[in-house]
Amino acid sequence: MDKIFRIKRFDPEKDNAARWEDFPVELGPHERLLDGLVRTKEFTDGSLTFRRSCAHGMCGSCAMKINGRSRLACQTLAGDMPELVVFEPLPAFPVIKDLVVDMEPFFEKIKSVMPYLVNDEPLPSRERPQSPEEMEKILDSIRCILCACCTSSCPVYWGDKQYLGPAALVKAARFVLDSRDRGGKARLDLVSGAHGAARCHSIYNCVEACPRDIDVTRHIAILKRQTLKRGLRGAR
Ligand code: FES
Repeated sequence: MDKIFRIKRFDPEKDNAARWEDFPVELGPHERLLDGLVRTKEFTDGSLTFRRSCAHGMCGSCAMKINGRSRLACQTLAGDMPELVVFEPLPAFPVIKDLVVDMEPFFEKIKSVMPYLVNDEPLPSRERPQSPEEMEKILDSIRCILCACCTSSCPVYWGDKQYLGPAALVKAARFVLDSRDRGGKARLDLVSGAHGAARCHSIYNCVEACPRDIDVTRHIAILKRQTLKRGLRGAR
């Protein structure tokens, strides 16, 4: 199966602006687009730059815009794509080179919502137990691989770079809903500002983009409800 990979290229050492370059690539229908990118780099143009690591949809490194949509190159089968496959760097992040973007602004947002378990109570002898029902509440959100497909697809984030964005809000919800966590109030304060959960317009691009099928908007809605309730109670 012959494909044309049309790739948006940008080398900060040579280019004043981004340019397009086409590469013919032969791929079987069950091969992933990442296979084609790796082959192009190995055999056609060693300067082609993109991120990848696990090649199995687990690390989030290979997120990029493919035919207009943020997705993982390692999870996209050649057979599901038309002959012309257009690759661009993830939208809304500064481009470093070719398909590699600066993820620092993304990880800063994640860090800002306390993405860790807070619990100062004395440690039990074995572990902090959870019932299956309690576990059920976080099963969806713990699948996040921080690929940024959701945040880069969010029109609110495109227009407001201070907005925490879907991924950071899902991370906050993941701990707010965790029965073992005691940092909920502080975390709700962090997501309740003008650039927090209330900024979400429920556009659902994030849900469509998520390669892990996380119901992102539902998690943001939970945060909206909880921050609103907390506001009405006077943030006690
Ligand atoms: S390379 Fe790890 S998710 Fe694609």
